Amino acid sequence: MSRITIHGGVPLRGTVRVSGSKNGSLPLLAASLLVDGEVVLHNIPHIRDIHTMIRMLRALGARAEFREDGGLVIDGSSINSVSAPYDLVRRMRGSFYVAGPLLARFGEAHVPLPGGCVIGSRPVDFHIRGFKALGAEVEEKHGAMHATAQRMRGTRIYMDPRLRSVGATVNLTMAACMAEGTTVIENASREPEVVDCQKFLTAAGAQIQGVGTTTLRITGVEQLHGLEWTAISDRMEAGTFLIAAALTRGEVTVEPVDPEHMSMVIDVLEQAGCDIRLAERSVTLSMDDRPDAVDVMTAPYPGYPTDLQPNTGVLMSIARGASVIEETIFDARFNYVDELIRMGADVRVMDGAAIFKGVPQLFGAPVVATDIRAGAALILAGLAAEGETEISGGALVDRGYEDITGKLSSLGARIATAPEADPETPDDECLV
Ligand code: UD1
Repeated sequence: MSRITIHGGVPLRGTVRVSGSKNGSLPLLAASLLVDGEVVLHNIPHIRDIHTMIRMLRALGARAEFREDGGLVIDGSSINSVSAPYDLVRRMRGSFYVAGPLLARFGEAHVPLPGGCVIGSRPVDFHIRGFKALGAEVEEKHGAMHATAQRMRGTRIYMDPRLRSVGATVNLTMAACMAEGTTVIENASREPEVVDCQKFLTAAGAQIQGVGTTTLRITGVEQLHGLEWTAISDRMEAGTFLIAAALTRGEVTVEPVDPEHMSMVIDVLEQAGCDIRLAERSVTLSMDDRPDAVDVMTAPYPGYPTDLQPNTGVLMSIARGASVIEETIFDARFNYVDELIRMGADVRVMDGAAIFKGVPQLFGAPVVATDIRAGAALILAGLAAEGETEISGGALVDRGYEDITGKLSSLGARIATAPEADPETPDDECLV
């Protein structure tokens, strides 16, 4: 556990090296279980959620270790269990990603149901319906999913277009890769992290048509082969540093990133009055004034990412004028707002939306982080605030951000972490 202390008001300046994507790396680690042979993954971030997934792979009998050059070597040829430990699934919902590969390769998966989550209801019914459509016998009993299938059969899977699920798209694509015949997945997610996983699978020998579109045609193959792969950069981390620059009236460059992955975020920041310069692999933001108010609605990619909604709310809390932020993905994602109000923000949440009436200044206060993204948002609020902010539960942020305090310090932020004694502080909540 750690407590983060920030003395706000310092404009951030400099360049930040963006780490590999958390949400992109987790599917790559799980997909490596499908491969008969050695996989070497590059650009995998050193964050707690990745360490949890590595523990999961090892619990299943796979070899998974970082080499000295930073490459993560995974060898699934020694897998000797199809049962995922509850303790790991409970810590991180992304652990459910092992279900598809285990079913596809071994015809059986026993994975505890992930359960509740601080950012809202997060069922796995789309995953389970898809496994059933692929011919698996699925039993949900004693808090776990037990699925068996001699060999899964290609089928048509129609996903709810209003709730395009990142996790279900990845899990069902992995499951279909080795099914007999062709599977068509309609209304698939198109998040860059999902697309990178599809490209990884294709490079390993899978046959996937429609990569990067909402309709995937996956023709099952007998086996996938070993390969080396580099995870994409983390667009959420990049967006977090850009918003931090906007909040502190500084100038920050994030690299390496693919600016195309951030089009919607860049558009909103430009509407807020930020000056943004794009290069092939970097984005630079500078800001010398309070932001203008912008209305934002979260949506599946290429819409505005829900993972950056809390950071965007902090930016709007000091905007000139009022803005409405609508959250359409997770019903409890405004859980940072009450803490922000304690720092002087004027926000009202109702019916899946929050109205931010911009105030000229936030003020430092002791606050509590409840999940990864809420924690990051409170760090940003602390950077913009006058005086000292102390964030309890700061360790949650380490689940998704690699060395966030070190990177912010290198930009000039006055930020420090200290061990935290309070056992009440939330720790391993769900993956967000
Ligand atoms: C992933 C990301 C998370 C991001 C989210 C939305 C990872 C590890 N996590 O989470 O950071 O915020 O996408 O972009 O990549 N749903 C169902 N039934 C299901 C599955 C989902 O009803 O079986 C609903 C969810 O409750 C939610 C919506 O669909 O309202 C989208 O969820 P989903 O895209 O599946 O999120 P995750 O994959 O869990």
